[in-house]
Amino acid sequence: MKNTPINKSLIDETINEFQITDFAKATIREVKAIAAKAEQMSGIEFIKMEMGVPGLPASAVGVKAEVEALQNGIASLYPDINGLPELKSEASRFIKAFMNTDLNAEGCVPVTGSMQGTYASFLTCSQCDKAKDTILFIDPGFPVQKQQLVVMGVKYETFDVYDYRGDKLKDKLESYLAKGNISAIVYSNPNNPSWICLNDEELKIIGTLATQYDVIVLEDLAYFAMDFRKNLSTPFEAPYQPTVARYTDNYILLISGSKAFSYAGQRIGVSCISDKLYHRAYPGFAERYGGGTFGTVFIHRVLYALSSGTSHSAQFAMAAMLKAANDGQYNFLDEVKVYGERARKLKEIFLRHGFHLVYDKDLDEDVADGFYFTIGYPGMTSGELAKELMYYGVSAISLVTTGSHQQGLRACTSFIYDHQYEQLDERMRLFAANHPKS
Ligand SMILES: Cc1ncc(COP(=O)(O)O)c(C=O)c1O
Repeated sequence: MKNTPINKSLIDETINEFQITDFAKATIREVKAIAAKAEQMSGIEFIKMEMGVPGLPASAVGVKAEVEALQNGIASLYPDINGLPELKSEASRFIKAFMNTDLNAEGCVPVTGSMQGTYASFLTCSQCDKAKDTILFIDPGFPVQKQQLVVMGVKYETFDVYDYRGDKLKDKLESYLAKGNISAIVYSNPNNPSWICLNDEELKIIGTLATQYDVIVLEDLAYFAMDFRKNLSTPFEAPYQPTVARYTDNYILLISGSKAFSYAGQRIGVSCISDKLYHRAYPGFAERYGGGTFGTVFIHRVLYALSSGTSHSAQFAMAAMLKAANDGQYNFLDEVKVYGERARKLKEIFLRHGFHLVYDKDLDEDVADGFYFTIGYPGMTSGELAKELMYYGVSAISLVTTGSHQQGLRACTSFIYDHQYEQLDERMRLFAANHPKS
């Protein structure tokens, strides 16, 4: 291909150096490393859209509380394994304020990020009942969660929700659950990577089937309330973040400090176990531990074994951020809605140059503008497009790694700078000229 901003052979050689035979399967870290090297060698800035890390300053409310807690000497003390009481009660209030859902403070358990929350949840769910040895992913999804299951040796099944939105979800979901081997269902909402948002009709299907087949729903809220089409930011007032909690008692809500509060570095989140699930005993626990309920096994067996609790000072930060949000003193969504503005501008540029959004709708509504979006180009596979865009100094990850069956890429808005829209426009104009549609 002619006149690309980055010399084609530089990218090809770097990819070869990393011994990546299929670029569609390159990991986020590999794409990042190749982009960094090509940037350094060429002296041309890359537009980096592969990493899903916050690009904003950490919440000042959290930092202040954490510094104070450290100065007060809490670093020398082991945190309570059940969690800091204030964090537990603020998390419970937060769920009431922003989801209109009642969940006791007892079930709100601090974890070292939602990553640990899902790890502990997968493990505990897999130990309830020997017959239920498989986790079901409503994909596309966050690749590391499958890695967690590979690490712990637990099986999983997956389907791409792309063709099963709305009432089509019921039969598809039931085809898995009816086999009797599924212990838990996991999805993120808003979704990483596609930014689709499951709506109440879909959550009702999931919840109703979860009750019917006695499986546990892991609702990953890493992007809590970041569906910027609605104003979900006023505590104790509708509209609320949609949740499966309205439709079943078998659930865990995974709330993370990382994206909504830009607090990823401190590894803090809260896993919130429903009241009923918390107190439920399972035969698998009696056999393995001599007893225990879901909540006590999750905390006193699994989390105790994994990390003996969560960083003490980060718990003070999370408690303060949730409290300020609950009290209506801190609109955390105001700080992150810039991601939505970036997505709107970036999508407009890609669409103008012949790209399309891969996951484009929530039923009849356009997907929201947010942290991620997905793009495809006619006639190109995920791997071809990912590699080709590298020649134009644009890095993004292939949807293949996310469990999606669609051809395209995930683009993340978190590292976009204001001067890069013009750059992207120029580069995509050239891309379109070099790839005329037939
Ligand atoms: C869907 C999803 N779940 C969980 C996480 C991880 O969250 P945490 O930083 O709280 O471990 C991420 C981070 O990218 C994510 O996208």
